[in-house]
Amino acid sequence: MRIYIDSANVEDIKLMIKRLPVDGVTTNPSLLAKEKNNPMKQLKAIKEVLEDHIELHAQVLSAHAEEMIKEAEYMREHLGENLYIKVPVTPDGIEAIKELHKRGVNITATAIYTPMQAVLAAKAGARWVAPYVNRLDMIGADGVLVATTIHDILTQINDKAGVLAASFKNVQQILNLSEIGVGAVTVSPELLKEILYHPLTDKAVCDFTNDFYKITSEGASM
Ligand code: G3P
Repeated sequence: MRIYIDSANVEDIKLMIKRLPVDGVTTNPSLLAKEKNNPMKQLKAIKEVLEDHIELHAQVLSAHAEEMIKEAEYMREHLGENLYIKVPVTPDGIEAIKELHKRGVNITATAIYTPMQAVLAAKAGARWVAPYVNRLDMIGADGVLVATTIHDILTQINDKAGVLAASFKNVQQILNLSEIGVGAVTVSPELLKEILYHPLTDKAVCDFTNDFYKITSEGASM
């Protein structure tokens, strides 16, 4: 399973990349707005801290297909051709995905709430489809089930597209999708930190250290 950081904060991204095996960074207009910087400047600052193998995903803002396509081309001009363009799965979005796919653009279809939206986006040429797991849970639907259904359909029809599940609020949602072999998840830095935390791990490390000091001296190491 590929792991992406869902953030537009350069410091958080740098720290997560240093510590974890990260495959990419996903941003959206809301995440960029939190950084209170010019959005393109912020995306360039993010791009600068990414090693070549780490993908950057950036989203179009326009509501109309033609404008989405122009925005995508503009972002590729400034951020490089291996950028992934995020496009919401509105009717205009699907039209834009079809055209961008023809032009060889990497696409992540986003704001997905139903399996059929994902199927159409994949058929239109999206490489990744991003169901919003927690936002589905928040409206009384089952986000993990929707993401699982999309994964199963794409696997059955042998589509090149994969699920890049987004919008997580707890580790269990991520674990459930790992178990079914979903292609990728994008997770906030806060939740990525939670994935590793366990008080008994900390206690074990503390016990090892204290035992070691019994035969050496305080602060000693190997
Ligand atoms: O990229 C989509 C994702 O950021 C949505 O997550 O946490 O705002 O529901 P959230």
